[in-house]
Amino acid sequence: RFYQNFIEDNRWLTLLNGLKVTVIVTLEALLIGIIIGFIVAIIRSYHDKTGKFKILNVICKIYLTIIRGTPSMIQILIMYLVVFGSSSLNSIIIGGIAFGINSGAYVAEIVRSGIMSIPEGQTEAGRSLGLSYAQTMRLIIMPQAFKNVLPALVNEMIVLIKETAIIGYIGEQDLTKAAMIIQSRTFDALMPLVAAAVIYLALISLLTFFMNKLERRLRTNER
Ligand code: ARG
Repeated sequence: RFYQNFIEDNRWLTLLNGLKVTVIVTLEALLIGIIIGFIVAIIRSYHDKTGKFKILNVICKIYLTIIRGTPSMIQILIMYLVVFGSSSLNSIIIGGIAFGINSGAYVAEIVRSGIMSIPEGQTEAGRSLGLSYAQTMRLIIMPQAFKNVLPALVNEMIVLIKETAIIGYIGEQDLTKAAMIIQSRTFDALMPLVAAAVIYLALISLLTFFMNKLERRLRTNER
């Protein structure tokens, strides 16, 4: 009886701890991905416009090709077994770094498409007013570009939340792994997976809700 209760209580705790890992890894990856993504996108579009930054542009291209051309599964295994193979760094951190580097490649192309969506005249207008290239970028191009790419960035965040399930392969108990652990303990095949799926759904719905709100707020100047 006591044991039965213990397992009953523990199930939700296991899922909750899994959710915590999923959220932490997603946030780490999001932060790293957005920083890398913006830097790469700016370098690439600066190169497109001015022809400068040749070597940096080549490095960015190689980064995009490798990261988008190989499975994230293999990337995270290489990160865990080779790059950080001899360090005692927590898999939550290793996972966050691996997913961040992976996500950065996708974010870079999303942001670059946003920068390209702003007509050249906007840059010319900014420069005519005496703004530097950096100021034009920061004050005129980026605010408009960000608004255009927000839906695509939300897509990327959703992918990232679900993608973190791979972290189970490097010994971390995320939400999906938690469901599998409960399955093997209780011999219940269906319900743990359904519970995990519902929690993912709730998490993503929450994210979409706030992002839609943000989008509406950013568009107020267009009405
Ligand atoms: N899982 C696939 C892969 O290994 C898709 C990853 C997509 N990731 C993203 N952040 N959009 O490449």
